[in-house]
Amino acid sequence: PYKMTSVKDLAESPGLSSIPSAYTFRKNQNDQQSSISDPEPDDSIPIIDFSLLISSCPEQRYKIIHDLGKACQEWGFFMVINHGVPESLIKSMMDTCKRFFDLTEEEKREFEGKAVLYPIRYGTSFNASVDKVLFWRDFLKVFVHPQFHSPAKPSEFREIAMEYCRRTREVARELLRGISESLGLDASYIDKTLNLDSGLQILAANFYPPCPQPDLAMGMPPHSDHGLLTLLIQNENGGLQLQHNGKWVNVNASSNSFMVNTADHIEILSNGKYKSIVHRAVVNNIRTRISLAMAHGPSLDAIVSPAQELMDRENQVPGYVGIKYKKYLELQQSNQLDNKSCLDRA
Ligand code: SIN
Ligand code: FE2
Repeated sequence: PYKMTSVKDLAESPGLSSIPSAYTFRKNQNDQQSSISDPEPDDSIPIIDFSLLISSCPEQRYKIIHDLGKACQEWGFFMVINHGVPESLIKSMMDTCKRFFDLTEEEKREFEGKAVLYPIRYGTSFNASVDKVLFWRDFLKVFVHPQFHSPAKPSEFREIAMEYCRRTREVARELLRGISESLGLDASYIDKTLNLDSGLQILAANFYPPCPQPDLAMGMPPHSDHGLLTLLIQNENGGLQLQHNGKWVNVNASSNSFMVNTADHIEILSNGKYKSIVHRAVVNNIRTRISLAMAHGPSLDAIVSPAQELMDRENQVPGYVGIKYKKYLELQQSNQLDNKSCLDRA
């Protein structure tokens, strides 16, 4: 049977000083390292104080909803502070994911080479069967809602992940209430229309070992996410880059924050008022970086279209064709990751 070579194994090969050519990522013309910058001082990454979003003071809520809408419209990315998820839980979650990758390849193989909607998948690159270039990344993807799944090892994974997923789901749903309101819709609009009681939640753990030629390789290619919102944490600051106003911007995360990006189905629902953000992960030659992305999407059988209320109120014509989330997910996960090509195809 096919045995994959994990990037972890590759990176640990003694004396590795260059990367195999299959990992050489040719950055295209508008994608040069030279165009990477830190955010301009007057245009820094928005910060959303979650405690204001759940505050009972109407003025505070009004202001933070306005800020949230602005962040979605101008960036498609923001950092959420004071979210209430305990730092110790975040740390335990990070540790248990690290222990998963530290299992032997034999132990991880059970989840290898699985179909894209299989609830527990371990692999390398994005989709090694179709990627033309391999990425400097191993991953674990677990469907954690509406049905909770967990690998049996490491033994503490199940309990920690269950709690972490529950807490982040609450944060995401509250953010989506705010985002609905910021669009002039009922706070519960997204929740109800897309049936978030059965919303799909996927935990994606990304493992990026040190790379001997970080400028030639890519951890994750430029892409936008499927679903509504992704909440990201990491063990090492640096690596995530966003496309903002035509430039790549380094994300310097505030400590203990969630990095949140708006995803394709927010773009569809808002009829393009809020765009999903294109982002990528670069690698370094010093430390292993682990990032945990928690993707929050509609219910698998929900059909996502531009909100009719927006069409009516603002006399808009729908710019996107309605598509079943499950179909979109299959399409996105079984192709190469390539900017927003899935949104174009859908
Ligand atoms: C992702 O896009 O899912 C991962 C980004 C990162 O590792 O920072
Ligand atoms: Fe992503």
